Amino acid sequence: MTTIPTTSPTDALLGVYRKPPMELVRGAGVELFDADGKAYLDFVAGIAVNALGYGDAELMRVMRDATESGLVHTSNLYRTAPGEQLAEKLTGRTFADRVFLSNSGAEANEGAFKIARRWARTMGGASKHEIIALRGAFHGRLFGTLAATDRPSYRAPFRPLAGGISIVERDLEELDAALNPETVAAVIAEPVQGEGGVRVLEHSFLQALREMTAQRGIALILDEIQCGYGRTGTFLAHEQAGIVPDLLTVAKPMAGGLPMGAILATKAVADVMQPGDHGTTFGGGPFVASVASYVFDRLSDSALLTHVTEQGAWLGAALRGLAERNTRIRAVRGTGLMWGIDIVDPAKDVIGRAMEMGLLICSAGEHTIRLLPPLVMTRRDLERGVELLTRAIG
Ligand SMILES: Cc1ncc(COP(=O)(O)O)c(C=O)c1O
Repeated sequence: MTTIPTTSPTDALLGVYRKPPMELVRGAGVELFDADGKAYLDFVAGIAVNALGYGDAELMRVMRDATESGLVHTSNLYRTAPGEQLAEKLTGRTFADRVFLSNSGAEANEGAFKIARRWARTMGGASKHEIIALRGAFHGRLFGTLAATDRPSYRAPFRPLAGGISIVERDLEELDAALNPETVAAVIAEPVQGEGGVRVLEHSFLQALREMTAQRGIALILDEIQCGYGRTGTFLAHEQAGIVPDLLTVAKPMAGGLPMGAILATKAVADVMQPGDHGTTFGGGPFVASVASYVFDRLSDSALLTHVTEQGAWLGAALRGLAERNTRIRAVRGTGLMWGIDIVDPAKDVIGRAMEMGLLICSAGEHTIRLLPPLVMTRRDLERGVELLTRAIG
């Protein structure tokens, strides 16, 4: 198939993204290529989506095979096997007893809020409905999730936001004061805050939060949309803290680049939901679920997870070493293959310079660079990326 590059950016698309002028036309391995044939080493991976990189032969074959039945979509009015199989794989591998398949991360979080509220209502009546998110959180851009997202500039133009959702400091004393069992239904937290600057929540913090919520009959929702599915070296990030949430959301890498999200829930919380309480037209269709079932096998594989742990440790050490030598770097944070670098310069300047040099990186705040390479990236390519990044930071 030949790709015909368009010559100039269109104004037919809603102008909500500031995109560089180059146009991507092809991907191979961990590299992307623009219409002029220039190669870019990819440390963004479609914002933590393309865990297997580009053109993975087996993934491409699974996608082709998944169309053979002619069943791309049937709606959720009828049973199809791939979604059921995927749900069984997820419940077999995680804390969850029930799975709801959605189409994006924000949609999964909105559904998790609904389940938490429905459950809390059975415990404490209508007044037990508040949802608490943490300082620095990003949970999505829809009305409920925007109210749980701590970015003033994303929120201000769209007020009033959904009610009954508030943000509390990442501080156990503040949470202790805010978590009133009479009024609070759920707390939502990212074990590693992604958009908020790649902030790893300490295991002791997650453990205390779990204890506090459990004691007060408050649901704990973990948002692992960015940090889950292998990114931190375990299939789900919270496994490392040894805690069990009530609800958890995943999305980004789930279906090899196809849109998909999921809510994972314990039986105790999920079984309050009755037919008609929630739904989606597309979620968990046979095509996307077949692909997701294959991606699950790849990203839950212990060899892949060990690779992420080992390469992540190397990348973290390399970045910390860089920070010691370079006064333009203020701090380095992260785990697995998810790293944030606070810099003196505006992140967008460094992102632009890196792109010119053939390296794609993204930001997590105005002065923070974020690295999210494909999980299959080799040491050689990581080294190449760090070298380019060093030059781009200056
Ligand atoms: C932690 C987290 N939650 C939710 C979302 C929203 O997901 P989506 O963009 O698929 O709606 C994102 C996206 O970046 C995310 O990183």
